[in-house]
Amino acid sequence: MKVLVVGAGQMGGGIAHVAALSGDEVTLLDREQRFVDAAIATMRKNLDRGVEKGRVTAHDRDAALERITPAVAWGEFDVDVAIEAATENEELKREIFRKLDAATPERTILASNTSSISITQLASVTKRPERVIGMHYMNPVPVMKLVEIIRGIATAPQTYETIRKLAVQHGKTPVEARNYPGFISNRILCPMLNEAVFALQEGVGTVESIDTVMKLGMNHPMGPLELADFVGLDTLLAIMEVLVDGYGDPKYRPCTLLREYVDAGWRGRKAGLGFYDWRSGERRARTDLTASGVPAFASDGAGASSGAVVSPAASGGNGTR
Ligand SMILES: NC(=O)c1ccc[n+]([C@@H]2O[C@H](COP(=O)([O-])OP(=O)(O)OC[C@H]3O[C@@H](n4cnc5c(N)ncnc54)[C@H](O)[C@@H]3O)[C@@H](O)[C@H]2O)c1
Repeated sequence: MKVLVVGAGQMGGGIAHVAALSGDEVTLLDREQRFVDAAIATMRKNLDRGVEKGRVTAHDRDAALERITPAVAWGEFDVDVAIEAATENEELKREIFRKLDAATPERTILASNTSSISITQLASVTKRPERVIGMHYMNPVPVMKLVEIIRGIATAPQTYETIRKLAVQHGKTPVEARNYPGFISNRILCPMLNEAVFALQEGVGTVESIDTVMKLGMNHPMGPLELADFVGLDTLLAIMEVLVDGYGDPKYRPCTLLREYVDAGWRGRKAGLGFYDWRSGERRARTDLTASGVPAFASDGAGASSGAVVSPAASGGNGTR
């Protein structure tokens, strides 16, 4: 198939990877060349690792990379399927769906990798609601087996069937969910991640203890704060906003500390800082904050006069008071 992927971030890059490896001709579009270049560099690194581990042949890696065409400008895209994987923002996605409707032939299926936004709403800005659908991959795309498929109210059965087969071709297990905010996956996952941030904010536990409880006590492979860093704190916040708006239930309200981290630009692993420090490429505890994920009060000691963020070490404390 010919596939256009819009957005070359964590998800778009991963979707381009699995699509190209499975034989699709992929055009990868983002706003700026550096985003597309970074996505292709990550793809190359991951494919190289696959070759080293014997999961991919060198020939398949090279062929996959050749099937990717980078793009930064909107033009006409003669593709069978477009998969939108841009930032989780409803207005932005509506704009992209309008553009996709104009830039692709009538036969093209327009899919969204949105984590939470209504497929019916995205479909409503196009002239082809019967060919609009949710195709929700999980992060990291080359590793995770699930694709949630969400039909809008007008999605045609043929559209569903084509997308179901495409997900299988990409090596995934498709599962259908109804078009409710957050679908199945994020309706259940994101309130748990948000609750972990509340627990941190209220001092119930530290970053480390909250993640350890969920790993050792609940057998989760990753703690919720680490997972939030992987998801992207901006994405988590956007999903919680969709849930609280969509259901009108305050139990979904995003935690203030989550909002403050996003305001600070601490958007998780992709930004280098979140609940952990990822700047070295590995997960490390943050040394500029207490273990409770907030700066120590200036009146507690060092740093008060400079207004600088006080590290637990600099304040002489263990950050748990
Ligand atoms: N992060 C996750 O765990 C996860 C999992 C499943 C689904 N999703 C969804 O996938 C989508 C992308 O998330 P992500 O984690 O890859 O975010 P990201 O921030 O890593 O990437 C978003 C990309 O979209 C690009 N973009 C923004 N506006 C654009 C435009 N007008 N045209 C083209 N590209 C544009 C940005 O430049 C950026 O490269 C979101 O809808 C998110 O909810 C995320």
